[in-house]
Amino acid sequence: MQDEKQKLMQIVNLGLEFAQIKDFDLLLERILTEARQFVNADAGSIYIREGSILKFSYCQNETLRKKLPHGKKLIYATFTIPINEKSISGYVAYTGKTQNIPNVYTLPGGVPYSFDKRYDELSQYRTRSMLSIPLKTNRGDVIGVLQLINAQDNNANIIPFAIDDEPLIMHFANNAAMAVERAQMTRAIILRMIKVAELRDPKETGAHVNRVASYSVEIYETWALKKGIPQKEIDKNKDILRMAAMLHDVGKVAISDAILKKPGKLDPSEIEIMRQHSFLGAKLFSDKYSDFDDAALQVALNHHERWDGNGYPGHVDPLTGTPMPSHVNEKGGAIGKKGEEIPVFGRVVAIADVYDALCSRRVYKEPWDESKVLETLSKDSGSHFDPDMIDSFFSNLDVIRNITARYPDK
Ligand code: C2E
Ligand code: SIN
Ligand code: SIN
Ligand code: SIN
Ligand code: FE
Ligand code: FE
Repeated sequence: MQDEKQKLMQIVNLGLEFAQIKDFDLLLERILTEARQFVNADAGSIYIREGSILKFSYCQNETLRKKLPHGKKLIYATFTIPINEKSISGYVAYTGKTQNIPNVYTLPGGVPYSFDKRYDELSQYRTRSMLSIPLKTNRGDVIGVLQLINAQDNNANIIPFAIDDEPLIMHFANNAAMAVERAQMTRAIILRMIKVAELRDPKETGAHVNRVASYSVEIYETWALKKGIPQKEIDKNKDILRMAAMLHDVGKVAISDAILKKPGKLDPSEIEIMRQHSFLGAKLFSDKYSDFDDAALQVALNHHERWDGNGYPGHVDPLTGTPMPSHVNEKGGAIGKKGEEIPVFGRVVAIADVYDALCSRRVYKEPWDESKVLETLSKDSGSHFDPDMIDSFFSNLDVIRNITARYPDK
C-alpha cells in the first residue's frame, strides 16, 4: 500500500516536471509567427482547449514588443475563457466557425458575443481588426483557437483582414492543429513510457530519473554558455534534453529480471545482453518525428560511449544494433565512438548517469562516499568523460548537490 502511494506520488511529481517543459511553447511560437507573417498581423494569440474551457496559452504583439527594453520578453498572464457564445474565442471554439471582424469596438448586429475591453485596458493596446480561426483536427475536433489581431497595410495602417485570405489561413490553421495535437500526444506517450520504465525497474525510480535529467540540464547549460551557444538555442535544448535524459535507460524494459535485478556482478554474457539496452532504447525513437525524438535517440544510444573510444555500443545502426560496415573492428564488433563523434547529449548524460549510479544504492552495489565519487569523475576526465563537461560539472557542484537533496531515494 505504502509502495502504491509512493509510486503515485512519483507520477504526480513527474507531471510537475513536465509542466515546466517549454517545447510546446516553441511550437506555438512557430505557429503564431508564421500565421502573423502570412496576413501581416501586428499581434496574435493562441488559445488551447482544456476540457470545456479555453486556456490563453501564447501571444505575440509587435507594437508592445517594440516598446520594451532590448531583449526583454512580453509578459502575459494566462487566463481561461469558457467555451460558449459569450466571448469571441469562446464562440469560435463552440461553433467551429471562423470570425472575421473588421472592428471589435463596433461589432455587427446580431452576434451573440461581445468584445472584452479589459485586455486592451490592461495592456494599453488598441485592438481593431480580428481574425479568429478554430484549430480543428482532421476528425473535426476543435483543440484551440488562433486569433490574429490588427492586419496592416504596407504603411502600417490597421485594416480589416481580407476575405480572400480566409481559406488559406484556415488550411494553415488545420496544419497547426495537427502539430499541436501531435505534440500533446507525444507528451502523453513520453509520460507513459517513463511510467513503464519505472514499473519495470522499481529500484531505479522517478527520483533517479529526475536527478539524471536535472544534472544533465545543469552540465549542458554551463558547457553550452562557455561554447558560445546562443541562450535561445540553449533554452530550447534544455527542455528537450530534460525529457530525453529521463528516458536514457528506457531500453532496460527489454532486459530480463534475471539480469536486471541480479544482486551480484554480471558475468560476461550477461554484460553483453545488458549493454543492448543502449540501442534497444534508441530504436524506440528511430522514427524521428521531432527534435525530441532525435535527442532521445542520441541519449539512449550514446550515454555509455566513452571519450577515449572504449565505450559501447559504438558505431552501430540503432535499428539493429549491428556495426556500421565502415566501423568494424578486428573482432567483428563496432568501433567505439570517440571524443566529439559522441553526440553532445550523450556526453552530458554519461556524466550525470555515472555520478548518480555511484552515489546511489543498486541491487549490485552500495552507495559510494561523495569524495570517492568526485575523485573518480575527476580521474576519468578525458578518458571516460568529455573534460570540458567535467569542468562544467565541478563548477556547478553546489547546484548538483541541491538537486540530489531535492530528489531523495525513498
Ligand atoms: P547503472 O547502475 O545506472 O550504472 C550506470 C553506469 O554507472 C555504469 O554503466 C557504470 O559506468 C557506472 N557505474 C555504476 N556502478 C559502478 C561501480 O560500482 N563502479 C564503477 N567504476 N562504475 C559504476 P555500465 O557499467 O555500462 O552498466 C550499465 C547498467 O548495467 C547499470 O546501470 C546496471 O543497470 C547494469 N549493471 C552493470 N553492472 C552490473 C552488475 O554488476 N550487476 C547488475 N545486476 N547490474 C549491473
Ligand atoms: C512535446 O513537447 O510535447 C513534444 C515534443 C515535440 O513535438 O517537439
Ligand atoms: C545539440 O543540439 O546541442 C546536441 C544534440 C546532440 O548531439 O544530441
Ligand atoms: C567505468 O568506466 O566503468 C566507470 C569509471 C571508471 O573507470 O572508474
Ligand atoms: Fe544506461
Ligand atoms: Fe541510469
